[in-house]
Amino acid sequence: MFKFVLGLLVIAASASSLAQNAFGRIQVAPAPLVTALPGSLHDTMKAMSKAMKSIEVGDASKNPANAQAADLISDLALHSKSFVPDEVAKMPAGERAGALAGYKAMLDETAATARQMAAAFRKNDNAAAARLYDQLNAEKKRGHGEYK
Ligand code: HEM
Repeated sequence: MFKFVLGLLVIAASASSLAQNAFGRIQVAPAPLVTALPGSLHDTMKAMSKAMKSIEVGDASKNPANAQAADLISDLALHSKSFVPDEVAKMPAGERAGALAGYKAMLDETAATARQMAAAFRKNDNAAAARLYDQLNAEKKRGHGEYK
């Protein structure tokens, strides 16, 4: 009986050290950006919206912050691809893969537009940035029309 209990303790101890090792590896992994990204599509979209609203297209003195917000929108658009919108999940199985591919392609487009807008802000080309800002809003409207 004593040996049996000892055996259980050894198993428990090695299991916990494995868990500790795994936990240690997660702790040292350089993942601040990943942990900062929202955990749902809804929250990701909210964050995109907040970043859009923070942009002051007509104020070139704000261009460093404008460019950062534009980069964030691009990152968030790419992050949105890791979720399946409810509208797509509800589709018949045969339609889902095609719809999901279309959804992801549209977000790639949005991410590219936001990246171009960041570049325009960095060049202090606010006229180009304003056109790209309008384009983003048009892409948002189209994306919501199809997938929201
Ligand atoms: C700059 C571009 C975009 C902005 C600022 C934006 C913003 C938002 C906001 C604020 C919501 C939440 C609305 C609510 O409270 O119900 C939302 C939801 C959603 N958006 Fe976007 N969006 C953008 C582009 C897109 C694109 C391109 C797509 C698709 C290709 C898309 C798909 C969706 C979907 C599926 C939802 C519903 C998410 C959910 O609540 O489950 N959005 N978006």
